[in-house]
Amino acid sequence: MDDFAQVPTGVNPSIPSVARMYDYYLGGTDNFPADREAAEKMIAIGRQMGNDAREVARENRGFLGRAVRHLAESGVRQFIDIGAGLPTQENVHQVVRRYSPDARVVYVDNDPTVLVHARALLGDDPGTIVLSGDLRSPRAIFDDQALRAHIDFDQPFAVLLVAVLHFVPEDEVAAQIVTRIRERLTPGSHLVLSHIYQGDGDQAAVSAGQRVYSTATSGGISGRDLPQITSYFAGLEILDPGIVPVQAWRPEGPKDVPADLTRPGILGAVARMG
Ligand SMILES: C[S@@+](CC[C@H](N)C(=O)[O-])C[C@H]1O[C@@H](n2cnc3c(N)ncnc32)[C@H](O)[C@@H]1O
Repeated sequence: MDDFAQVPTGVNPSIPSVARMYDYYLGGTDNFPADREAAEKMIAIGRQMGNDAREVARENRGFLGRAVRHLAESGVRQFIDIGAGLPTQENVHQVVRRYSPDARVVYVDNDPTVLVHARALLGDDPGTIVLSGDLRSPRAIFDDQALRAHIDFDQPFAVLLVAVLHFVPEDEVAAQIVTRIRERLTPGSHLVLSHIYQGDGDQAAVSAGQRVYSTATSGGISGRDLPQITSYFAGLEILDPGIVPVQAWRPEGPKDVPADLTRPGILGAVARMG
């Protein structure tokens, strides 16, 4: 974002926004100096752990695109993307539109910058709506009148929780949120979830990263282990290849991507309600 651009109402540019930091990792320009400074700290911390925050973000975005494409190819026509992020390339509605011109997408986010940009981008796209909503209040999201008018709950739909649940640092709260969301899934509906994973990452570096995000809009971040991430899919059928580093989820291209669970990064999976 141009540093002289008008700041949207409700946006405090001096507090790093997790949405705008992610935009910075992805090479976007919808960010302010405080976002860039916090993101650069995370990039330096990532380096200590042997990874590149920008590449991790790109890999997560790649997973999102492949997962949505897979679901669209399997006939899913309705998507609820919670923690949608700032518009970038290959946004959900653009991916699904290639498969079905009348697909329905609901973008939900609690960051005013995201809402302003998403609404500006979508303008008059009739199949897509943007809602202000907080993942911490899943009932309010699912009972929102605009969402209920847009999504036909008698037809399969997908809920996307991609790189957002780790911004709910309290383990018990995060688990309850996903339970509430799973309860809303109908047969044939899907959950797409990706989540920061600590692996065997250096604890001092992990703590340093947590300190950076404690000053951001989310108020914190919590990487979780494989059993915790697995528990989010309880009662669902996890599609192949299971819960894996996002870059190893149905990669495209000739090379095999190893599913190395020792390295810190982001794990992801797609699961179906039977
Ligand atoms: C790292 S970005 C991920 C964007 C996109 N899902 C992706 O994976 O490419 C996280 C997004 O989640 C949003 N977010 C964080 N906490 C949230 C909450 N409690 N409720 C709704 N959105 C939230 C942020 O504003 C941000 O846009």
